[in-house]
Amino acid sequence: MDWGMENRLSRLIQSDGHCFFLPIDHGYFQGPTRRLEKPGETIQPLIPYADGLFVTRGVLRACVNPQKSPPLILRVSGGTSIIGKDLAHEAVTTSVQEAVRLNAAAVGMSIFIGSEYEFDSLVNLGKLVDECEIYGIPVMAVTAVGKEMEKRDARYLGLCCRIAAEFGAKVVKTYWCEDFDQVVHGCPVPIVMAGGPKCETEREVFDFVHDGMQRGAIGLNLGRNVWQHDYPVAMMKALRAIIHENASVEEAVDLFEDEKKK
Ligand code: 5RP
Repeated sequence: MDWGMENRLSRLIQSDGHCFFLPIDHGYFQGPTRRLEKPGETIQPLIPYADGLFVTRGVLRACVNPQKSPPLILRVSGGTSIIGKDLAHEAVTTSVQEAVRLNAAAVGMSIFIGSEYEFDSLVNLGKLVDECEIYGIPVMAVTAVGKEMEKRDARYLGLCCRIAAEFGAKVVKTYWCEDFDQVVHGCPVPIVMAGGPKCETEREVFDFVHDGMQRGAIGLNLGRNVWQHDYPVAMMKALRAIIHENASVEEAVDLFEDEKKK
């Protein structure tokens, strides 16, 4: 692998091979998402525990201190909103030159397999990978499902992850699902898990994260289940223990309860 590419990936994926990225890109189609209305305030206590920040250039420039930022994964796709016609109708909205200017460690874009815009999103991914390879920038593909959350099963997500890897994504972000090892098995590049809408309990989050890690994920790109929680720092620390210290679900719950009291 090219030196620059390897260096950038190693800024994001830690020496144990695992990573915990904090996504705060939700506003690019959801607007001021609950508890992310002021992203700078939301992330300020969480930054010490994040291996990377998934963010758009606008929020980055307006809300993130360049002297205290974790490595960046720059969200470079968009063009739709939750009140628009179709969330799948995205294009690449931020240039690779901008990613270089912002010192991004990687860029990320969504693909919409099975949607009306499958072709467009995949061709866009191919073009983005082509351009990013010139500068040694890794691309993280996001296997987006739009509003159709029920699509999240091993067959569908396995298909999406494999296609993303075939197009040259260096990392794929997908959802956890039952039989997650089947998703990992067919994907030749590392997979990180998103959290999706906030779960009822923290134990539910620890359960799926632990299961996904045991079945081969390398880490997380998990947002709402951290920053929409009443105790986001405690969530971050407990999840870090699963990702980087091989903690069990019980250990994560204990750590969460201890941190909650602080
Ligand atoms: C939004 C994204 C998010 O980065 C991704 O969904 C992770 O966040 P969450 O854990 O809140 O689902 O790609 O488009």
